[in-house]
Amino acid sequence: MALILGIESSCDETAVAVIDTSGTTLDARVVAQRIASQDAAHRPYGGVVPEIAARAHVEVLAPMVAATLADAGIALGAIDAIAATAGPGLIGGVMVGLVTGKALAMAADKPLIAVNHLEGHALSPRLADPALAYPYLLLLVSGGHCQIVEVRGLGQYRRLATTIDDALGEAFDKTAKILGLGYPGGPAVERLAREGDPRAVPLPRPLLGSAEPHFSFAGLKSAVLRAHESGRYDPADIAASFQQAAIDCLVDRLRRALAACAPVTALVVAGGVAANWALRSALETLADGAGLPLVAPPPRLCTDNAAMIGWAGAERYAAGLFDPLDFVARPRWPLDADAAPVRGAGVKA
Ligand code: KG4
Ligand code: ZN
Repeated sequence: MALILGIESSCDETAVAVIDTSGTTLDARVVAQRIASQDAAHRPYGGVVPEIAARAHVEVLAPMVAATLADAGIALGAIDAIAATAGPGLIGGVMVGLVTGKALAMAADKPLIAVNHLEGHALSPRLADPALAYPYLLLLVSGGHCQIVEVRGLGQYRRLATTIDDALGEAFDKTAKILGLGYPGGPAVERLAREGDPRAVPLPRPLLGSAEPHFSFAGLKSAVLRAHESGRYDPADIAASFQQAAIDCLVDRLRRALAACAPVTALVVAGGVAANWALRSALETLADGAGLPLVAPPPRLCTDNAAMIGWAGAERYAAGLFDPLDFVARPRWPLDADAAPVRGAGVKA
Protein backbone atom coordinates (compact mmCIF):
# COMPACT_ATOMS: atom_id res chain seq x y z
CA MET A 1 0.00 0.00 0.00
CA ALA A 2 1.28 3.49 -0.79
CA LEU A 3 0.12 7.08 -0.53
CA ILE A 4 1.02 9.21 -3.55
CA LEU A 5 0.72 12.98 -3.83
CA GLY A 6 -0.25 14.03 -7.37
CA ILE A 7 0.31 17.51 -8.83
CA GLU A 8 -1.09 18.80 -12.16
CA SER A 9 -0.39 22.23 -13.68
CA SER A 10 0.21 21.69 -17.42
CA CYS A 11 -2.66 23.82 -18.71
CA ASP A 12 -5.30 25.91 -16.96
CA GLU A 13 -6.22 23.73 -13.99
CA THR A 14 -4.14 23.66 -10.84
CA ALA A 15 -4.81 20.36 -9.11
CA VAL A 16 -3.50 18.36 -6.15
CA ALA A 17 -4.61 14.89 -5.07
CA VAL A 18 -3.73 12.18 -2.58
CA ILE A 19 -4.02 8.63 -3.93
CA ASP A 20 -4.21 5.55 -1.71
CA THR A 21 -3.16 2.50 -3.76
CA SER A 22 -4.87 0.09 -1.34
CA GLY A 23 -8.31 1.37 -2.37
CA THR A 24 -10.37 -0.91 -4.59
CA THR A 25 -12.85 1.72 -5.74
CA LEU A 26 -12.37 5.16 -7.26
CA ASP A 27 -13.64 6.86 -4.11
CA ALA A 28 -11.38 4.83 -1.85
CA ARG A 29 -8.38 5.49 -4.06
CA VAL A 30 -8.81 9.26 -4.33
CA VAL A 31 -8.46 10.19 -0.67
CA ALA A 32 -8.56 13.91 -1.39
CA GLN A 33 -8.45 16.18 -4.42
CA ARG A 34 -8.60 19.93 -4.99
CA ILE A 35 -8.91 21.54 -8.42
CA ALA A 36 -8.60 25.29 -9.00
CA SER A 37 -9.87 26.26 -12.43
CA GLN A 38 -8.50 29.36 -14.13
CA ASP A 39 -11.46 29.64 -16.51
CA ALA A 40 -12.42 33.10 -15.27
CA ALA A 41 -8.89 34.47 -15.73
CA HIS A 42 -8.68 33.30 -19.37
CA ARG A 43 -12.29 33.93 -20.42
CA PRO A 44 -11.74 37.56 -21.56
CA TYR A 45 -9.13 36.28 -24.05
CA GLY A 46 -11.20 33.36 -25.40
CA GLY A 47 -8.43 30.86 -24.69
CA VAL A 48 -5.59 30.00 -22.32
CA VAL A 49 -2.92 32.72 -21.99
CA PRO A 50 0.29 30.90 -20.96
CA GLU A 51 1.74 33.75 -18.87
CA ILE A 52 -1.48 34.21 -16.92
CA ALA A 53 -1.71 30.45 -16.41
CA ALA A 54 1.82 30.11 -15.03
CA ARG A 55 1.35 33.00 -12.63
CA ALA A 56 -1.97 31.66 -11.40
CA HIS A 57 -0.41 28.22 -10.74
CA VAL A 58 2.34 29.87 -8.63
CA GLU A 59 -0.22 31.76 -6.56
CA VAL A 60 -2.39 28.80 -5.59
CA LEU A 61 -0.28 25.63 -5.72
CA ALA A 62 1.58 25.67 -2.39
CA PRO A 63 -1.51 26.49 -0.29
CA MET A 64 -3.44 23.84 -2.25
CA VAL A 65 -0.89 21.16 -1.36
CA ALA A 66 -1.28 22.03 2.32
CA ALA A 67 -5.07 22.09 2.07
CA THR A 68 -5.27 18.77 0.19
CA LEU A 69 -3.02 17.04 2.75
CA ALA A 70 -5.25 18.50 5.48
CA ASP A 71 -8.36 17.20 3.67
CA ALA A 72 -6.74 13.76 3.59
CA GLY A 73 -5.88 14.06 7.28
CA ILE A 74 -2.20 13.28 6.75
CA ALA A 75 1.15 15.05 7.05
CA LEU A 76 3.61 15.34 4.16
CA GLY A 77 5.83 12.79 5.91
CA ALA A 78 3.15 10.11 5.47
CA ILE A 79 3.34 10.38 1.67
CA ASP A 80 5.41 7.67 -0.06
CA ALA A 81 6.17 9.53 -3.31
CA ILE A 82 5.46 12.80 -5.10
CA ALA A 83 4.12 12.52 -8.67
CA ALA A 84 4.11 15.75 -10.69
CA THR A 85 3.25 16.40 -14.33
CA ALA A 86 6.56 17.06 -16.12
CA GLY A 87 5.09 17.60 -19.61
CA PRO A 88 3.78 17.91 -22.23
CA GLY A 89 1.97 21.21 -21.83
CA LEU A 90 2.48 24.94 -21.37
CA ILE A 91 6.04 25.02 -20.16
CA GLY A 92 5.62 27.78 -17.54
CA GLY A 93 2.84 25.91 -15.78
CA VAL A 94 4.59 22.55 -16.05
CA MET A 95 7.68 24.05 -14.43
CA VAL A 96 5.67 25.44 -11.52
CA GLY A 97 4.20 22.01 -10.72
CA LEU A 98 7.41 20.09 -11.30
CA VAL A 99 9.54 22.45 -9.19
CA THR A 100 6.97 22.27 -6.41
CA GLY A 101 7.04 18.46 -6.63
CA LYS A 102 10.83 18.45 -6.49
CA ALA A 103 10.87 20.77 -3.45
CA LEU A 104 8.35 18.57 -1.62
CA ALA A 105 10.28 15.41 -2.52
CA MET A 106 13.48 16.95 -1.23
CA ALA A 107 11.90 18.31 1.95
CA ALA A 108 10.19 15.02 2.77
CA ASP A 109 13.06 12.88 1.48
CA LYS A 110 10.66 10.91 -0.73
CA PRO A 111 11.05 9.83 -4.36
CA LEU A 112 9.96 12.06 -7.22
CA ILE A 113 7.96 10.62 -10.12
CA ALA A 114 7.92 12.83 -13.23
CA VAL A 115 4.63 11.99 -14.94
CA ASN A 116 3.79 12.36 -18.61
CA HIS A 117 0.41 14.16 -18.62
CA LEU A 118 -0.73 11.93 -21.50
CA GLU A 119 0.10 8.84 -19.46
CA GLY A 120 -2.08 10.32 -16.72
CA HIS A 121 -5.00 10.46 -19.18
CA ALA A 122 -4.12 7.05 -20.64
CA LEU A 123 -4.16 5.28 -17.25
CA SER A 124 -7.07 7.24 -15.72
CA PRO A 125 -9.54 4.52 -16.80
CA ARG A 126 -7.62 2.02 -14.62
CA LEU A 127 -8.01 4.36 -11.65
CA ALA A 128 -11.76 4.50 -12.23
CA ASP A 129 -12.18 0.80 -13.04
CA PRO A 130 -9.85 -1.55 -11.13
CA ALA A 131 -11.00 -4.44 -13.35
CA LEU A 132 -9.59 -2.84 -16.51
CA ALA A 133 -6.61 -4.99 -17.58
CA TYR A 134 -3.92 -4.37 -20.18
CA PRO A 135 -3.90 -4.34 -23.18
CA TYR A 136 -6.67 -1.96 -24.17
CA LEU A 137 -7.43 0.28 -27.13
CA LEU A 138 -7.47 3.91 -26.06
CA LEU A 139 -9.05 6.92 -27.75
CA LEU A 140 -7.29 9.90 -26.18
CA VAL A 141 -9.16 13.10 -27.00
CA SER A 142 -8.16 16.32 -25.27
CA GLY A 143 -7.48 19.98 -25.99
CA GLY A 144 -4.04 19.25 -27.42
CA HIS A 145 -4.29 15.65 -28.62
CA CYS A 146 -6.37 13.24 -30.64
CA GLN A 147 -4.82 9.79 -30.76
CA ILE A 148 -5.65 6.12 -30.87
CA VAL A 149 -3.18 4.21 -28.73
CA GLU A 150 -2.75 0.53 -27.98
CA VAL A 151 -1.97 0.52 -24.25
CA ARG A 152 -0.08 -2.74 -23.75
CA GLY A 153 1.20 -2.09 -20.24
CA LEU A 154 2.70 0.62 -18.07
CA GLY A 155 5.02 2.65 -20.32
CA GLN A 156 4.15 0.51 -23.35
CA TYR A 157 2.20 2.61 -25.80
CA ARG A 158 1.80 2.06 -29.52
CA ARG A 159 0.26 5.00 -31.33
CA LEU A 160 -1.99 3.77 -34.11
CA ALA A 161 -3.37 7.14 -35.18
CA THR A 162 -3.02 10.84 -34.49
CA THR A 163 -4.35 14.09 -35.94
CA ILE A 164 -2.61 15.55 -38.96
CA ASP A 165 -3.76 19.05 -38.00
CA ASP A 166 -5.99 20.10 -35.07
CA ALA A 167 -6.86 18.22 -31.89
CA LEU A 168 -10.56 17.53 -31.38
CA GLY A 169 -10.83 19.61 -28.18
CA GLU A 170 -9.31 22.49 -30.12
CA ALA A 171 -12.00 22.07 -32.80
CA PHE A 172 -14.72 22.12 -30.10
CA ASP A 173 -13.17 25.28 -28.61
CA LYS A 174 -12.94 26.98 -32.04
CA THR A 175 -16.54 26.05 -32.85
CA ALA A 176 -17.59 27.59 -29.54
CA LYS A 177 -15.66 30.75 -30.37
CA ILE A 178 -17.24 30.97 -33.85
CA LEU A 179 -20.71 30.55 -32.35
CA GLY A 180 -19.95 33.08 -29.59
CA LEU A 181 -20.36 30.53 -26.80
CA GLY A 182 -17.31 31.65 -24.84
CA TYR A 183 -14.60 29.67 -23.13
CA PRO A 184 -14.14 26.79 -22.32
CA GLY A 185 -15.92 25.68 -25.44
CA GLY A 186 -16.46 21.91 -25.33
CA PRO A 187 -19.18 21.77 -22.67
CA ALA A 188 -20.94 24.83 -24.19
CA VAL A 189 -21.04 23.23 -27.67
CA GLU A 190 -22.39 20.02 -26.16
CA ARG A 191 -25.16 21.90 -24.32
CA LEU A 192 -26.22 23.85 -27.40
CA ALA A 193 -26.03 20.73 -29.60
CA ARG A 194 -28.80 19.15 -27.50
CA GLU A 195 -31.21 21.75 -28.91
CA GLY A 196 -30.13 21.33 -32.53
CA ASP A 197 -30.61 18.95 -35.46
CA PRO A 198 -27.40 17.01 -36.23
CA ARG A 199 -28.49 16.61 -39.88
CA ALA A 200 -29.39 20.24 -40.53
CA VAL A 201 -25.98 21.50 -41.68
CA PRO A 202 -23.98 19.60 -44.32
CA LEU A 203 -20.45 19.38 -42.92
CA PRO A 204 -17.44 17.36 -44.13
CA ARG A 205 -16.14 14.26 -42.36
CA PRO A 206 -12.39 14.53 -43.12
CA LEU A 207 -10.59 11.22 -43.84
CA LEU A 208 -13.77 9.18 -43.31
CA GLY A 209 -13.20 5.76 -44.84
CA SER A 210 -9.58 6.60 -45.62
CA ALA A 211 -7.06 3.75 -45.70
CA GLU A 212 -4.65 5.75 -43.58
CA PRO A 213 -5.37 5.62 -39.85
CA HIS A 214 -5.23 9.31 -38.91
CA PHE A 215 -7.62 12.13 -38.01
CA SER A 216 -8.09 15.60 -39.46
CA PHE A 217 -10.33 18.35 -38.10
CA ALA A 218 -9.06 21.56 -39.72
CA GLY A 219 -11.45 21.29 -42.70
CA LEU A 220 -14.40 20.63 -40.40
CA LYS A 221 -13.56 23.71 -38.38
CA SER A 222 -13.38 25.89 -41.52
CA ALA A 223 -16.70 24.46 -42.71
CA VAL A 224 -18.27 25.43 -39.38
CA LEU A 225 -17.00 28.98 -39.88
CA ARG A 226 -18.42 29.13 -43.43
CA ALA A 227 -21.76 27.73 -42.33
CA HIS A 228 -22.00 30.30 -39.57
CA GLU A 229 -20.97 33.19 -41.82
CA SER A 230 -23.55 32.20 -44.43
CA GLY A 231 -26.22 33.24 -41.93
CA ARG A 232 -28.42 30.37 -43.13
CA TYR A 233 -28.21 28.14 -40.11
CA ASP A 234 -29.35 28.16 -36.53
CA PRO A 235 -26.36 28.06 -34.11
CA ALA A 236 -27.84 25.04 -32.31
CA ASP A 237 -28.05 23.17 -35.63
CA ILE A 238 -24.43 24.07 -36.39
CA ALA A 239 -23.32 22.85 -32.93
CA ALA A 240 -25.26 19.59 -33.30
CA SER A 241 -24.04 18.99 -36.85
CA PHE A 242 -20.43 19.73 -35.90
CA GLN A 243 -20.59 17.36 -32.93
CA GLN A 244 -22.13 14.63 -35.10
CA ALA A 245 -19.50 15.05 -37.84
CA ALA A 246 -16.70 14.83 -35.26
CA ILE A 247 -18.23 11.72 -33.68
CA ASP A 248 -18.69 10.08 -37.11
CA CYS A 249 -14.95 10.62 -37.76
CA LEU A 250 -13.94 9.18 -34.39
CA VAL A 251 -16.14 6.11 -34.79
CA ASP A 252 -14.87 5.47 -38.34
CA ARG A 253 -11.19 5.76 -37.33
CA LEU A 254 -11.74 3.59 -34.25
CA ARG A 255 -13.52 0.92 -36.26
CA ARG A 256 -10.49 0.81 -38.52
CA ALA A 257 -8.09 0.63 -35.55
CA LEU A 258 -10.10 -2.15 -33.89
CA ALA A 259 -9.78 -4.21 -37.05
CA ALA A 260 -6.03 -3.56 -37.24
CA CYS A 261 -4.88 -3.94 -33.64
CA ALA A 262 -3.95 -7.01 -31.60
CA PRO A 263 -6.69 -8.43 -29.32
CA VAL A 264 -7.63 -6.04 -26.49
CA THR A 265 -9.68 -6.31 -23.31
CA ALA A 266 -11.69 -3.13 -23.83
CA LEU A 267 -12.32 0.02 -25.79
CA VAL A 268 -11.36 2.94 -23.58
CA VAL A 269 -11.84 6.69 -23.93
CA ALA A 270 -10.03 9.37 -21.93
CA GLY A 271 -9.13 13.08 -22.04
CA GLY A 272 -11.28 16.19 -21.77
CA VAL A 273 -13.49 15.50 -24.81
CA ALA A 274 -14.34 12.09 -23.30
CA ALA A 275 -16.62 14.05 -20.96
CA ASN A 276 -18.97 14.45 -23.95
CA TRP A 277 -22.10 12.31 -23.51
CA ALA A 278 -22.98 12.10 -27.21
CA LEU A 279 -19.50 10.74 -27.90
CA ARG A 280 -19.72 8.25 -25.05
CA SER A 281 -23.02 6.90 -26.29
CA ALA A 282 -21.69 6.49 -29.86
CA LEU A 283 -18.65 4.65 -28.49
CA GLU A 284 -20.91 2.43 -26.39
CA THR A 285 -22.63 1.29 -29.59
CA LEU A 286 -19.29 0.77 -31.36
CA ALA A 287 -17.86 -1.27 -28.47
CA ASP A 288 -21.04 -3.34 -28.26
CA GLY A 289 -20.75 -4.21 -31.93
CA ALA A 290 -17.11 -5.24 -31.42
CA GLY A 291 -18.02 -7.42 -28.43
CA LEU A 292 -15.90 -5.28 -26.09
CA PRO A 293 -16.77 -3.36 -22.95
CA LEU A 294 -16.47 0.44 -23.17
CA VAL A 295 -14.58 1.93 -20.25
CA ALA A 296 -15.10 5.67 -19.88
CA PRO A 297 -14.04 7.31 -16.61
CA PRO A 298 -16.51 9.69 -14.94
CA PRO A 299 -16.33 13.15 -16.58
CA ARG A 300 -14.45 14.67 -13.64
CA LEU A 301 -11.59 12.24 -14.35
CA CYS A 302 -11.64 13.04 -18.09
CA THR A 303 -10.83 16.74 -17.87
CA ASP A 304 -7.47 17.67 -16.34
CA ASN A 305 -7.09 16.61 -12.72
CA ALA A 306 -4.41 15.50 -10.27
CA ALA A 307 -5.97 12.15 -9.35
CA MET A 308 -4.91 10.75 -12.73
CA ILE A 309 -1.37 12.09 -12.24
CA GLY A 310 -1.24 10.56 -8.75
CA TRP A 311 -2.55 7.29 -10.20
CA ALA A 312 0.08 7.19 -12.99
CA GLY A 313 2.56 7.88 -10.18
CA ALA A 314 1.11 4.97 -8.20
CA GLU A 315 1.56 2.56 -11.12
CA ARG A 316 5.14 3.81 -11.56
CA TYR A 317 5.78 3.56 -7.81
CA ALA A 318 4.67 -0.08 -7.82
CA ALA A 319 7.10 -0.72 -10.68
CA GLY A 320 9.95 1.09 -8.87
CA LEU A 321 10.17 3.78 -11.56
CA PHE A 322 11.49 6.99 -10.00
CA ASP A 323 13.08 10.11 -11.46
CA PRO A 324 16.05 12.27 -10.44
CA LEU A 325 15.51 15.70 -8.90
CA ASP A 326 17.18 17.32 -11.92
CA PHE A 327 14.51 15.97 -14.30
CA VAL A 328 13.91 18.69 -16.92
CA ALA A 329 10.33 19.70 -17.83
CA ARG A 330 9.33 18.69 -21.37
CA PRO A 331 7.00 20.93 -23.40
CA ARG A 332 6.67 18.04 -25.91
CA TRP A 333 6.68 14.45 -24.76
CA PRO A 334 5.01 11.87 -27.02
CA LEU A 335 3.55 8.76 -25.39
CA ASP A 336 4.99 6.61 -28.16
CA ALA A 337 8.46 7.94 -28.95
CA ASP A 338 8.81 5.43 -31.80
CA ALA A 339 5.72 6.58 -33.69
CA ALA A 340 6.52 7.84 -37.17
CA PRO A 341 5.84 11.51 -37.88
CA VAL A 342 2.67 12.08 -39.91
CA ARG A 343 2.25 14.37 -42.87
CA GLY A 344 0.51 17.67 -42.36
CA ALA A 345 1.30 20.94 -40.67
CA GLY A 346 1.03 21.76 -37.00
CA VAL A 347 1.16 18.14 -35.94
CA LYS A 348 0.82 17.53 -32.24
CA ALA A 349 3.11 14.92 -30.75
O1 KG4 B 1 -7.84 16.92 -21.11
P1 KG4 B 1 -8.22 18.34 -21.01
O2 KG4 B 1 -8.91 18.82 -19.75
O3 KG4 B 1 -6.97 19.28 -21.19
C1 KG4 B 1 -5.94 18.94 -22.07
O4 KG4 B 1 -5.03 18.17 -21.66
O5 KG4 B 1 -6.02 19.44 -23.22
O6 KG4 B 1 -9.12 18.67 -22.29
C2 KG4 B 1 -9.66 19.95 -22.48
C3 KG4 B 1 -10.49 19.93 -23.74
C4 KG4 B 1 -10.97 21.30 -24.15
O7 KG4 B 1 -10.72 21.49 -25.52
C5 KG4 B 1 -12.47 21.24 -23.86
O8 KG4 B 1 -13.24 22.08 -24.70
C6 KG4 B 1 -12.77 19.77 -24.11
O9 KG4 B 1 -11.65 19.10 -23.56
N1 KG4 B 1 -14.01 19.33 -23.44
C7 KG4 B 1 -15.10 18.90 -24.10
C8 KG4 B 1 -16.09 18.64 -23.12
N2 KG4 B 1 -15.55 18.93 -21.89
C9 KG4 B 1 -14.27 19.35 -22.12
N3 KG4 B 1 -15.33 18.72 -25.42
C10 KG4 B 1 -16.54 18.28 -25.79
N4 KG4 B 1 -17.54 18.02 -24.91
C11 KG4 B 1 -17.37 18.18 -23.58
N5 KG4 B 1 -18.35 17.94 -22.72
ZN1 ZN C 1 -5.16 16.89 -20.36
